[in-house]
Amino acid sequence: MSADSAGAAAVALKRWGARADEALARALPREEQQPLELHRAMRYAVLGGGKRLRPVLVYATGTAFGASPEALDSPACAVEIIHAYSLVHDDLPAMDDDDLRRGRQTCHVVFGEAMAILAGDALQALAFEVLANDARLQADACNQVEMLRTLAAACGAHGMAGGQAFDLAAVGKTLTPGELERMHVYKTGALIRASVRLGALAAGCRDAATLAALERYGHAIGLAFQIRDDILDVEGDSATIGKTAGKDAANEKPTYPGILGMDAARAQLLQHTRTAIDAVVPLGARFNPLAGLARFVAERGS
Ligand code: IPE
Ligand code: IPE
Ligand code: MG
Ligand code: MG
Ligand code: MG
Repeated sequence: MSADSAGAAAVALKRWGARADEALARALPREEQQPLELHRAMRYAVLGGGKRLRPVLVYATGTAFGASPEALDSPACAVEIIHAYSLVHDDLPAMDDDDLRRGRQTCHVVFGEAMAILAGDALQALAFEVLANDARLQADACNQVEMLRTLAAACGAHGMAGGQAFDLAAVGKTLTPGELERMHVYKTGALIRASVRLGALAAGCRDAATLAALERYGHAIGLAFQIRDDILDVEGDSATIGKTAGKDAANEKPTYPGILGMDAARAQLLQHTRTAIDAVVPLGARFNPLAGLARFVAERGS
């Protein structure tokens, strides 16, 4: 990776991550509003941690097309709110049964299982409300509906929720490499792909070839992201990754290192990272941050 795109990625993560934090704090219901406990659980789940990769992808893509940051706040928030909801449910005893997330106790440990389920439900609805209500969106009505459809598809049965179903059904089983890839494409890839597409749509992009190049990029970094997550579960320590290390093996989850071995998992990670970078380089220097973010995804330590 050029020093240029590494620098551009670092700037993007810092700048857009901080902007997402502020926009999310505004978008969430206030703690002193009723129902208090639900609102506290929602804010706890979203604020105070997280790399904000998905909103950063929205901002980095949208601004590469010339959109103003204000026009990107609502899609950036919407996708992160869906992500935060998915983590709350992923950590529940009925799913991965985790008590550590983003270096803190998980939502259900602090607020109880029932409130954590409700917080996830309410966050999912809030994401669509934020996207539908936005007066600062520059996209026309046609692109706004396409944004709503994109987000819905990414979190539904053919996206994140479907991927979680594949994940649960695969506990204790050996998947073929194809089945493993499909699970990752759905459970993690869908929302990451949607983040890139939302940034482009919010900027008014309708060019099919450009959207297809971004789709290839999003697909590749989505897969790379979950492969890196699986590797970190094996090699990371809980204090650094902010969640319980070794949890995949303990839960008998099918993972890239578990099924293909660590060397093959690393090789696939590298290959997807190259595919992602190759997809955006032809789009020009304004898309340098996306190339740098692909490398960040592959190399991240938490
Ligand atoms: C963790 O996502 C869950 C996966 C989809 C692998 P992140 O690693 O982006 O979690 P945060 O948002 O930084 O906490
Ligand atoms: C979760 O995958 C993906 C989601 C849709 C939330 P993991 O179960 O591997 O995520 P972590 O490792 O708990 O963050
Ligand atoms: Mg899981
Ligand atoms: Mg988990
Ligand atoms: Mg994991």
